[in-house]
Parts: sequence; structure tokens; C-alpha cells
Amino acid sequence: MKFFVDTAEIDEIAELHDLGMVDGVTTNPSLILKSGRDILEVTKEICELVPGPVSAEVVATEADAMIAEGRKLAEIASNVTVKLPLTWDGLKACKVLSGEGKMVNVTLCFSANQALLAAKAGATFISPFIGRLDDINLDGMDLIQDIRVIYDNYGFETQILAASIRSANHVLDSARIGADVITAPPKVIKSMVNHPLTDKGLAQFMADWAKTGQDIL
Ligand code: E4P
Repeated sequence: MKFFVDTAEIDEIAELHDLGMVDGVTTNPSLILKSGRDILEVTKEICELVPGPVSAEVVATEADAMIAEGRKLAEIASNVTVKLPLTWDGLKACKVLSGEGKMVNVTLCFSANQALLAAKAGATFISPFIGRLDDINLDGMDLIQDIRVIYDNYGFETQILAASIRSANHVLDSARIGADVITAPPKVIKSMVNHPLTDKGLAQFMADWAKTGQDIL
């Protein structure tokens, strides 16, 4: 399973990248706002740091303008993935940009039918939003499962990029289902290391070690 980091904060990406935890990065207009950075500059910096796909999102809503923005974003680096919203215009832009050989991530997916359309339009990645479905008392994992079944039924090559991940359990459930990629905030990826029995066991070992009076170095 590939791990993408959902942030535009360079320091956070670099810390996880040094550990080999970053296969790619996703950003969106809200994350660019949070970073306080210029989208073109920060995307270039991320692309220089991470060789994998780096999603940068268009903000136009009409297909021709989306295509123009997507082409400009794709000029930043060869690993830029143009992120397009799952609207009819977004699908038109997806068809054109993917036809030009650009990687495309179709975002804001909330139904399996939407995912089916994105695959047919040639999307490289489909981003179903788990957390935002959970927020309205629907089950985000059901959507990941449905898309997995549908894509496998017909051999679609579009990769399922489980997004809007809010917890380590979302990562685990996505892995169980067979999502190709997860994108999660750095704090969620780091929280996966936590287990109370690890903390308890380590405390016991440290206490017993202190009683030996020994040093390794
Ligand atoms: C994915 O590409 C999105 O940027 C992100 O996962 C959205 O997450 P949120 O619903 O927590 O804002």
C-alpha cells in the first residue's frame, strides 16, 4: 500500500520522507491556505523533495479553464498530478489531461457511480472521502469497498486513493479492503505507531535495565 501525505507543510513532509513513509503528497486549496505559501512555489518545492505523485488542485470550475490550470500546474514538474473535482466539467478535463499523458487525481468522490465515471474518463487516481461521509453518518469504508469491487470487476486501472482519513483505523480498514493508496495528515500516520502495550513493555524493560547497573556504550 502506498502512503501519500495530505499536507503542504514542507517540514512535515520531509520528516516522514526521511523515514521512507512518503510515496506521494496531496494538497488542496484549504491546505495551501493553511500553509500560507504560493501554490506554484510550494508545489515545486514538494516535487523536488518527493519523487512520487504530488497532487495540486485546479480552482476553475469550467472545463476549458480547468484544462488550462491543469496544464500550468503540470509544467511545474513531471510528478505533478492534476487534481480535479468530480463534476461533469472535471470529468471532461480529466479526459483531456489524461489523454495528454498527465497524471490526474479526481477528488471529492462520494459515490461509487462517481468513481465509475472517473475511471472511464481515464483518472490515474480516484479520491473517495471517507471522513466527510462519516461526518454525515454514512459509512466511508462502504464506499471504498464498493469501488474496489467495481474496479476489480472490470479491470479498471484507476488507483483507489482513500482520502479524508481521520484516524489510524481508517488506514487499517483501507488496507484490509485493498485501497491502492491512502492519503492522511502527518499526525494520523505518526499515530499508527502508538500502542499502550508497547509503552508499558518499554517502561518495564527500562526499569529492569536500570537495576542491572549496566551500560551498553
Ligand atoms: C485529499 O486529497 C484531501 O485533500 C483530504 O484528504 C481531505 O481531507 P479532509 O476531509 O480531512 O479535509
